[in-house]
Amino acid sequence: MRKQIENMTILILGSGGREHTFAWKIAQSPLCDALFVAPGNSGTAQIATNVNIGVTDFEAIKNLVLEHHIDMVVVGPEDPLVQGIHDFFLNDDQLKHVAVIGPQKAAAELEGSKEFAKEFLFRHNIPTAAYQSFNANNVEEGYKFLETLSPPYVLKADGLAAGKGVLILNDLNEAKAELKNMLVDAKFGDASSKVVIEEFLDGIELSCFVLTDGKHYKILPTAKDYKRIGEGDTGLNTGGMGAVSPVPFATDEFLNTIEEQIVKPTILGLQKDNLPYKGFVFIGLIKVGNNPKVIEYNVRMGDPETEVVLPRLKNDIVEIFKAISENRLNDIDIDIDDRAATTVMLVSGGYPEAYDKGKEITGLEQIEGSIPFHAGATIKDNKIVTSGGRVMAITSYGNTYQEAIKKSYQNIDKLHFDKMNYRKDIGFDL
Ligand code: AMP
Ligand code: GLY
Repeated sequence: MRKQIENMTILILGSGGREHTFAWKIAQSPLCDALFVAPGNSGTAQIATNVNIGVTDFEAIKNLVLEHHIDMVVVGPEDPLVQGIHDFFLNDDQLKHVAVIGPQKAAAELEGSKEFAKEFLFRHNIPTAAYQSFNANNVEEGYKFLETLSPPYVLKADGLAAGKGVLILNDLNEAKAELKNMLVDAKFGDASSKVVIEEFLDGIELSCFVLTDGKHYKILPTAKDYKRIGEGDTGLNTGGMGAVSPVPFATDEFLNTIEEQIVKPTILGLQKDNLPYKGFVFIGLIKVGNNPKVIEYNVRMGDPETEVVLPRLKNDIVEIFKAISENRLNDIDIDIDDRAATTVMLVSGGYPEAYDKGKEITGLEQIEGSIPFHAGATIKDNKIVTSGGRVMAITSYGNTYQEAIKKSYQNIDKLHFDKMNYRKDIGFDL
C-alpha cells in the first residue's frame, strides 16, 4: 500500500540538464517533501540532495529507496529503463509500492532496439520510413538491399549506442563498408550485431512528447533540438546543442495529424502488444511534405528538449506523476504557458570529441531573466566546474522564440569557462 500521506519523498535518476530541470520542476510542488537525485550535478545540489550512486546500480538504488522511504522514482535516462529498473521494483516485495515513472523493460525496447521499434510501427500502421534489418549472417543481402536504394543511405545500429549508432552516408561503397564494419567488425559492439537500413526521409525534424499511464495519454508541447555541433547544422552529432518550444511550423492542423496518425495508434499499440508503459514517450518525427513520419521512439524525455518543455508546463508535475502511477491520467488537464522557451547548450571546447574537464564556470550570479540548467557541471572546492561535454543549458522565455533566444544569448555573454563553446544560431531554420 502507498503511504496515506500527501507529501512524498522523490528520487530522480540521472545527472544531466534534463534531470536538473526535473528537479527544478518537482521542487516547486507542494506535494514534494524531500528530493534526492542520483547521482545529480551542481545544479541539483542547490535544490535537492545528491547521492553518488550510478543510475544502473539497482541494488544501491534499492538501499537508498528503503533508507529514505522514497515514494516515487523518476527515471531520467534510457539505460536503467532498458535494463528493467521498473520491473526490478515491481518484482521486489519491499519496492513494489514505489511509483516508478518510466516504462517497463518490454516497452523500453522501443528505444533499446531499432528493429523492435520498426516492427511495432509497421504492425500498428504508423507512418515511418521503409526498412529492412540485417545481421552478420546476411551481410550480402544487406549489400543488395543498399543497391536498390538511392542515396543518402541510413544505417542504424539496432541497440543503444549513446546516440552515435546512426550513420547517414552518400556513397554506396562507403555504406557497404560501414554495414560490414557494424555487423562483422562490431563497430558499436553488441549494439550493431543487427543493423536497420532505412529509406532516407527528406524533411524538417521535430519532437513530440507524450505522457501516458498505459491507457490514457496527454500531449506535451513540441520541441525542436539542434543536434550538430556546428552552425547551420554542420559537423558531428552531439547530444543536442539547443532547443526551441513550441515548434513554429507545427500548426494545429499538423499537430492534429500527429495525434491521429501517430500518438493514438502508438498508445493503442502499447496496449494491444501488452507493453506496460507509465512515463514519457518521446517521438522523433520528420515532416515530409505535410506528413509526419516517425524516425524514432525514445522512452524518456529528450535532453535539451526537457529544458524547454517542462518550463512551459504550468501544472504541478508531481500531481501528474501521481495520476500516472494511479492510472488516472485522464483526470489531469494539461496547462501550457503561451510563451515560447528556448535553450542554448554551453559545451566544453572539443566536444563531441575529446575535451578537458574541471574548468571553473563564472558569471552565474549575474544571470538575469534566464534559468541556467546545469548538465556536465559539478562542485569542487566550493567552485562550480565543468565535468562533461555538455556543461549547461541556458533557458529563457519570450513572447516569441526570437525574443527568448536573444535573452539566452545576452546572459551567455556574462558566462565564462576556459574553451566554452556554443552554437550562435539556435532557431536559425525556423
Ligand atoms: P536517431 O538516433 O534515430 O535519432 O537518428 C539520428 C538522426 O539521424 C535523426 O535525428 C535524424 O536527423 C537522422 N535520421 C534518422 N533516420 C533517418 C531517416 N530515415 N531519414 C533521414 N534522416 C534520418
Ligand atoms: N536530444 C535528443 C535526445 O535526448 O535523444
